[in-house]
Amino acid sequence: MAPVEHLREQAPGARVHTVRLSDLTTLKVGGPAEVWEVEDAAGLAAATEEPYRVIGGGSNLLVSDDGVDERVVRLGRAYNDVRSYSGERDVWLGAATPLPGLVRRAQRAGMSGLEGLLGVPAVLGGAVAMNAGTRFGEMSDTLHEVELFVDGGLERVPAHSLDLSYRHATLPVGAIVTRARLRLTPSDPETVAATMAAVDAARAGQPKVKSAGCAFKNPHGDSAGRLIDAAGLKGMRRGDAMVALEHGNFILNLGSATATDVLELVSAVQVELSMVGADLELEWRLWGF
Ligand code: FAD
Ligand code: EPU
Repeated sequence: MAPVEHLREQAPGARVHTVRLSDLTTLKVGGPAEVWEVEDAAGLAAATEEPYRVIGGGSNLLVSDDGVDERVVRLGRAYNDVRSYSGERDVWLGAATPLPGLVRRAQRAGMSGLEGLLGVPAVLGGAVAMNAGTRFGEMSDTLHEVELFVDGGLERVPAHSLDLSYRHATLPVGAIVTRARLRLTPSDPETVAATMAAVDAARAGQPKVKSAGCAFKNPHGDSAGRLIDAAGLKGMRRGDAMVALEHGNFILNLGSATATDVLELVSAVQVELSMVGADLELEWRLWGF
């Protein structure tokens, strides 16, 4: 990230940069925004004085080529506890903790509950906000309590108050997940590794090219990828955005796709699928359109 502006003295606990959000998203599209990287509650308070959005790992976002007008709040290193996790069964972790490292550490410690999230390139806050998961398990399996920054202060709420379901959490308006309390189950490294191998095998057909994961939620009892495939849409393109050949629910950025290309392709897929009676709901969050 190329910092163009530092306002440290005006905003204790926060560093402010103007960056292209393509640098902070896995799909690698998106225009500029003022990003507030915060390290404590004072930083959060300063950052949220004006309209804002929150970014995690940027792995479920399609951001407009024009960027966003709101500030983008990003939790900094103080909220990344991946190195301090050493196998506790009941643990508070910062919301900037990367899931891939956490999943690996839990496996090594023989703790079960997170292995179904193998391959999800999120940070903990984004995984809570989306209730990320696979058919082997989701965030709600281990989430016990969350700390939220809301209305200018921190509060703790039980996980059940977030109404967690398939790719869904209900957070209070404007809430930023700052920490999450997870409850894991003691197992052994080999058993956890065996589940991870099964998750890995289930993901083997997913493309490795730049994407934001599955674009659409699965309709009840079916797979959006299967439906897109059956409709013959793999390989469909708008500019450098393409429906993956490996898996119909992945839209790829082949190199220089714009957000407009990607959104046009999303719409074209939805139109084609509606003609065969399937209404596909976006899983991605759209910013700035
Ligand atoms: P972001 O994409 O940054 O944000 C997503 C949403 O969460 C936004 O609305 C954002 O405002 C909100 N948010 C982020 N952080 C916070 C916070 N601290 N407080 C409040 N709100 C917040 N998802 C799955 O569920 N299962 C999969 O198997 C899966 N596989 C994927 C594979 C690939 C290759 C990719 C690129 C993505 C995949 N995804 C998958 C999608 C994505 O990883 C998940 O949706 C994930 O939960 C997004 O987390 P993030 O930290 O990247 O959040
Ligand atoms: N299928 C096809 N053609 C395709 C894609 C899939 O026929 O192009 C068929 C498969 O053969 C299989 C069925 O559809 O019979 C389901 O496919 P898959 O096992 O790949 O699962 P999915 O439902 O497409 C879901 C999640 C993924 C998650 C995997 C693994 C959603 C929208 N997708 O995919 O999550 O990684 O299961 O558990 O729920 C994400 O949410 O971003 C994501 C990647």
